[in-house]
Amino acid sequence: MDALAKRLLAWYENHRRDLPWRRTQDPYRIWVAEVMLQQTRVETAIPYYHRFLKRFPTVEHLARASLDEVLKTWEGLGYYARARYLHAAARIIVASHGGELPHTWEELLALPGIGPYTAGAILSVAFGQDVPALDGNAGRVLCRLFNVDQNPRQSAAQRRLWTLAQEVLPPGQAGAFNQALMDLGTLICTPRNPSCGTCPLADLCQARRLNRQEELPVRAPRRAIPHRDVTAGVIWKGDRLLIAQRLPQGLLGGLWEFPGGKREPGESLAHCLEREIREE
Ligand code: ADE
Repeated sequence: MDALAKRLLAWYENHRRDLPWRRTQDPYRIWVAEVMLQQTRVETAIPYYHRFLKRFPTVEHLARASLDEVLKTWEGLGYYARARYLHAAARIIVASHGGELPHTWEELLALPGIGPYTAGAILSVAFGQDVPALDGNAGRVLCRLFNVDQNPRQSAAQRRLWTLAQEVLPPGQAGAFNQALMDLGTLICTPRNPSCGTCPLADLCQARRLNRQEELPVRAPRRAIPHRDVTAGVIWKGDRLLIAQRLPQGLLGGLWEFPGGKREPGESLAHCLEREIREE
């Protein structure tokens, strides 16, 4: 275990990606980055990260802003529930935690939009606590290193992976170690064609020894992508356009749209549009 952490940290020292949220110690900035990275790739998130922090440089700025302003700044990044939760959590942090992100697992998990991954990332990276933070990339690395034969999306596998992550974590260096696992997963231990030839952990890797690196992690069958027919109508009078705000919950909650909606079974598109506009 020691050899694993030592080698991974040495590799990280030389190969770590220079990312904007790695140039700060500010827990607020680290939190914003981790929320963006929950469902967005690093390269996509970077411009949004800068824009968001320019607009809301502190948790107080975010808490004072309206939800509309926050959603507008998030526009284009997708998964807008993240922005709603970030805003709601900022208000709780200002109202109940004196404007500081809490330092415990339980308090962080109690905030909207913070699950085990994000709590682990904040505690380890921002506060230096010895806590794992396993995202998909880090989980893949551990599945291969320890030949974990379970689908990492299932809770039994998650428990096993978090236990393994805790066991290999070098005390006092969790922030660097967790991010090193993520970088190794992104740069070397990729889902397909992993670069085992340049991996610092290759000779410790059980999947590699068994030549199973391409088989692991176990993949669940893909869920079918839902298909819906929807209509939308553009209604104007002079230079004014009619737009409607979606309900706060659910898909694209709180965002603005042209009126319209989903077609019911057997309904024509024209009738659907008329019905939806009437209903709205
Ligand atoms: N993905 C999510 N958080 C990350 C981080 N801190 N570094 C690299 N990739 C990440």
